[in-house]
Amino acid sequence: MINGSDQFLLYLLLHLLGVFAFVNGTSSEDDLMKKTMESFSGYPNEPSTPSFLSVDVETLQVQIDELSSFSDTPAPSVTRILYTDKDVLARNYVKQIMTNSGLSVREDAVGNIFGRWQGYEAGLAPVSTGSHIDAIPYSGKYDGVVGVLGALEAINILKRSGFEPNRSIEVILFTSEEPTRFGIGCLGSRLLSGSEKLASTLMNTVDAHNISFLDAAKSAGYDMDSKQDISSVFLKKGTYSAFLELHIEQGPLLESEGVSIGIVTAIAAPASINVGFEGNGGHAGAVLMPNRNDAGLAAAELALEFEKHVLQSGSIDTVGTVGIMELHPGAINSIPSKSHLEIDTRDIDEERRNKVIEKLHESAIKIAQRRQVKLSEFKIVNQDPPALSEVSIISAMENAAMVSNLSYKFMISRAYHDSLFMSRVCPMAMIFIPCYKGYSHKPEEYASRDDMANGVKVLAITLAKLSRE
Ligand SMILES: *[C@@H]1O[C@H](CO)[C@@H](O)[C@H](O)[C@H]1NC(C)=O
Ligand SMILES: *[C@@H]1O[C@H](CO)[C@@H](O)[C@H](O)[C@H]1NC(C)=O
Ligand SMILES: *[C@@H]1O[C@H](CO)[C@@H](O)[C@H](O)[C@H]1NC(C)=O
Repeated sequence: MINGSDQFLLYLLLHLLGVFAFVNGTSSEDDLMKKTMESFSGYPNEPSTPSFLSVDVETLQVQIDELSSFSDTPAPSVTRILYTDKDVLARNYVKQIMTNSGLSVREDAVGNIFGRWQGYEAGLAPVSTGSHIDAIPYSGKYDGVVGVLGALEAINILKRSGFEPNRSIEVILFTSEEPTRFGIGCLGSRLLSGSEKLASTLMNTVDAHNISFLDAAKSAGYDMDSKQDISSVFLKKGTYSAFLELHIEQGPLLESEGVSIGIVTAIAAPASINVGFEGNGGHAGAVLMPNRNDAGLAAAELALEFEKHVLQSGSIDTVGTVGIMELHPGAINSIPSKSHLEIDTRDIDEERRNKVIEKLHESAIKIAQRRQVKLSEFKIVNQDPPALSEVSIISAMENAAMVSNLSYKFMISRAYHDSLFMSRVCPMAMIFIPCYKGYSHKPEEYASRDDMANGVKVLAITLAKLSRE
């Protein structure tokens, strides 16, 4: 909690930054400033008076807890998969909060949800912020959710403080950030960014139960018949002046260093590659070593070669993971005749990451030759470019952290987010807050009220600033 005189100081600072030049046609700015300051001067002696930029973190926590009850697995875990009944209930819950905050709510064809606080200059491109609420099986309740419900609280703070935006401010709930159901991550934001490829793919995409994307969407109330219906989601360039996302770090750095705010300067982007080898197989006893062409050992060798390429990239920011390695037929007494690998590599430097993929390909060819196996598959499944945050938004966030007296550091997001795709249609930056031990995607995921309040405050001040530019 900050005390009354600090609130006053903060208010003055914001005025100096030009954040709180109120839009009002009738009263002069001076009058408004005086009136607003008077109404804040009682704080904290009149706790019932909504105070200037004070985050109602109790309500935020209640909402996070309530939202987590829309889950297909028991608490404390959360499982909320795209277009399931629980997903629909959770969406309705968020739409209700948007309506209660006085936002006008709209949904696009795939169920991206937009809540708009109309600004003074309706013709200007709005400032946008948001995240997702879908949750992978047995995960936690803060991933994504803090960036949606926290954004709505940021708007409530600004409303309570008497701020009026010049540009409109829009909160976006993105459809399916997690790839759980259809194997496609950031489905909603990827479409918003104008992915023709995804619009085509979705016409024939099915889930593990052979339910089509189109049928699943229909069951959730989103009717699409054609590729045109899906592409209606695409945003035109210039739709938004900026996009910001508040998110838990999902890593341990902020907590272990005792820093309150992470300002994300770049988002690393993943590439995924599927590799297959095929050999002759055979009996584990009968075939002598010189006569073997073991698809399993080819896979093992490639995995280690891949690690070498990643380590030799010259940067700590290059990472690589062989997350899947399957052998066929998978019996102890049978030489593997087929192997299948799924490989993920990420970096903030696209060229460096792609170099690793090239070297991986060369190694796969060489290993196949040496071991007399066939390289049956080498498929780059996706290769998204990384994104850099916008300098002017970074400095607005930095100012917001400073006037709030919060420690902050610049950092890289090694997980990807909807922001990665929004960066293709407008300038972008992200705010991270600490989370317990860096845990995410499991029930132990946790962010403290203080940390959430700090993040919401920095988001609110930054939104206010950008809505005036
Ligand atoms: C999946 O559904 C389609 C259309 O209903 C059907 O033609 C196809 O045979 C099904 N595939 C499987 C593997 O069940
Ligand atoms: C700012 O934070 C520091 C360290 O947490 C604290 O010592 C100082 O009193 C704070 N200043 C204000 C104005 O809140
Ligand atoms: C709103 O923003 C526009 C464009 O930046 C600017 O020209 C105008 O003066 C602003 N209006 C107010 C009341 O600040």
